[in-house]
Amino acid sequence: MLRREFLSASLAALALQPADTPAEESLKQAAAPSGLLVGSAVSYREINEAAFAQLIARQCSIVVSENDMKWKALRPAPDKFDFTRADALVTFAEKNGIKVRGHNLCWHEALPDWFSKIANPDNARELLTNRIDTVVRHFKGKIHSWDVVNEAVDVKDMRADGLRRSPWLNLIGPEYLVIAFRAAAKSDPDAILTYNEYGLAPDSSQNEAKRRAVVALLRWLKRNEAPAQALGIQSHLKGKSPFAGLQHFLGEVRELGVRVFVTELDVNDEPFPVDIATRDRMVAGVYRDYLHTMLEERYVEAVLTWGLSDRDSWLRHRENRAAGVPRPLPFDDRLQPKPAFFAMREEFKKASRRD
Ligand code: G3I
Repeated sequence: MLRREFLSASLAALALQPADTPAEESLKQAAAPSGLLVGSAVSYREINEAAFAQLIARQCSIVVSENDMKWKALRPAPDKFDFTRADALVTFAEKNGIKVRGHNLCWHEALPDWFSKIANPDNARELLTNRIDTVVRHFKGKIHSWDVVNEAVDVKDMRADGLRRSPWLNLIGPEYLVIAFRAAAKSDPDAILTYNEYGLAPDSSQNEAKRRAVVALLRWLKRNEAPAQALGIQSHLKGKSPFAGLQHFLGEVRELGVRVFVTELDVNDEPFPVDIATRDRMVAGVYRDYLHTMLEERYVEAVLTWGLSDRDSWLRHRENRAAGVPRPLPFDDRLQPKPAFFAMREEFKKASRRD
């Protein structure tokens, strides 16, 4: 099945036909019967490129802003907010009937250059709540879910609570998480408030330690009446690895009454052979195995990749490889579907058939 589809995709590419033709069932069409939301991180540049905008509109029932809603993007100066790009993204999504995830409200990265110059223990709370109030109110009613706090756990920082020694922790203490979630809930009670984290998959001793710390954090947030209603499992995968332990982890999260999104899925193919056909096939296998595990229980409500096309993958700017460039996503540089696309679509169809 995969081979035939891969060949037809290749022939389509050779024929320079847009392989994403109406006849080609899209990811969101395959997922729709199960109610699973599927999509990708997108950028201002991509929504303003006709072919890419068409691909997003056909494939995605939900999108997330990759960078255009981060603090650095929205607040170039302490007294200046610039929503131009983020508004364009939300408008594009609304026009195409696509839900929007907001990313993110509180993170230790992508802080504006002025932040470290003016933030101190006396004003940090105000800086954080002002940012969240202003941004969440600006988009009130337009956001499906917010990544309220991103990547607050780092067990390598050796704290008993597993928290990362981030600027927010250093300036405010662990309470910054409670402040962030409460501020977001006050400004938009309808958005699903999400704690977003990487390093929860695949199975490894390091990732298991992080899973323990995240479950403990979710319990602590609940005890402190901080409305973390969902967990975002980023899912930046690399090579072929086991995922069986995720089922137990998902069960623990479910017992806390916390919803689950796969928020930043991609498969770093660096460990795979250089040959493109082999690499693409192995990447597709990882997508298939991972989505089979994550969707088996029908508990995951949304799956978003961290980009649709290899061309714009963050990994392109991150890795200098001995040979080749990263091919982590469902579409190639020419926006043609890769084996990963067909593997994802098949898993979404299987999830729909389970109902
Ligand atoms: O927009 C500027 C441009 O004007 C400037 O010329 C250029 C050169 O410095 O930088 C551009 O900004 C870059 C931005 O991406 C937009 O391309 C930043 O330097 C760069 O740091 C930023 O990287 C992003 C990174 O988060 C940090 O914010 C990646 O694209 C983005 O994919 C990555 O995404 C993160 C998630 O938010 C959280 N989870 C992990 C994930 C991967 O790191």
